[in-house]
Amino acid sequence: MPQPAVSPVAKPIIVTDPIAIREQVRAAQARGRRVGFVPTMGALHEGHTSLVDRAACECDDVAVSIFVNPTQFGPSEDFSRYPRSLESDIAAVAERGARWVFAPEAESIYPPGWATRVEVEGPARRFEGEIRPGHFSGVATVVCRLLLAVPADEAYFGAKDWQQTLVIRRMVRDLGVPTGITVCPTVREPDGLAMSSRNAYLTAAERSRACGLFESLRLAEQGWLAGETVAVIERAMAHHLAERGVTVDYAAIVDRDTLDPLTDETSPAVALVAGRLGMTRLIDNILLPLRR
Ligand code: PAJ
Repeated sequence: MPQPAVSPVAKPIIVTDPIAIREQVRAAQARGRRVGFVPTMGALHEGHTSLVDRAACECDDVAVSIFVNPTQFGPSEDFSRYPRSLESDIAAVAERGARWVFAPEAESIYPPGWATRVEVEGPARRFEGEIRPGHFSGVATVVCRLLLAVPADEAYFGAKDWQQTLVIRRMVRDLGVPTGITVCPTVREPDGLAMSSRNAYLTAAERSRACGLFESLRLAEQGWLAGETVAVIERAMAHHLAERGVTVDYAAIVDRDTLDPLTDETSPAVALVAGRLGMTRLIDNILLPLRR
C-alpha cells in the first residue's frame, strides 16, 4: 500500500459544553498529562498560533478556546462586526496539534440571569481601562470563567496586549486560580505592525500608515537608550504618530509591572501606544531595555 507523503493532521475535538471540556481536561491530567490553554476570540493569525506552538512545546495536550466575548466590548465597539472564521480557525489549530477547541455558546458562559463580574483594579485602571470602561472587567470575568472550564496547568497570552497580561496575572493571583500564566512575544508583520485580528479592518491606505505605531515604539527605544527623558520621548512618539495620520489615544512610557509613572528611570519600563486609523483602533507596546 502506498503511504501518504505527509501524515494526516489529527482533528481537534470540538467541545461546546464547559462541563464536558472540564471533564476531558481533568481526565488527561489524571493520566499525568500536562495541559496548556490558549484563550482567543478567533480570527486566528500567526500571533495566536505562536501561542499554540509554545503551549504544544511545553505541554502534552493543548486546548484553544474561541469565543468572541461580548462583555469586553463597549456599546459602540465592534462586537457585531468582529471577524468570525470558526472553520479556518479549527484548521489552523489542528495544524499546530491542538487536542481540543473549546467553542462555547454565549449562554453557557453567561447563563440566563448571570449577575457576577470580576473587577480588577491596579493595572486595569489606566490606558485601555480609562478609554474602554468595563473592558478589563469583561476580560477578567471571561478569563476566570474559561479557566474554570479549562483548568489547565499553564495558560498562554501574548505580550501584544501587555496591560491585559498584567490584569490577568493579578486576577489569577488575587483569586488563587491554580493555573500558571506564560506571556509570549508579539508576532509582527515584516514592516513591524503587530499582528491583530483588527488589522483586517484597515483600508490599503490605512494599512500603510499603521506601521507608524511600531515606528513610534522604535523611536522610544532609541530615545531611551540615548538617555532622553520620558517627557521628551513621549512627545516624539505622539508627534510621529500624528505625522503618520494616527489619532493618538496615548503614547507613554511607564513602569512595566504597575503601569504607574516611572519614579526612577532605571526601573523596568514599557512603551505603550494606542491610536485610531479611520474606524480602526490599534494598540502596541515594547518592553524597553534596562537602563543603568
Ligand atoms: P485575542 O485578541 O483573540 O487574542 C488572543 C491571544 O492572542 C491574547 O493573549 C493576545 O495577546 C494574543 N495575541 C494577539 N495578537 C498577538 C500577536 N501579534 N503576537 C502575539 N500574541 C498575540 O486577547 C483576547 O483575544 C481576549 O481578550 C481574551 C484573552 C481571549 C479574552 O476574551
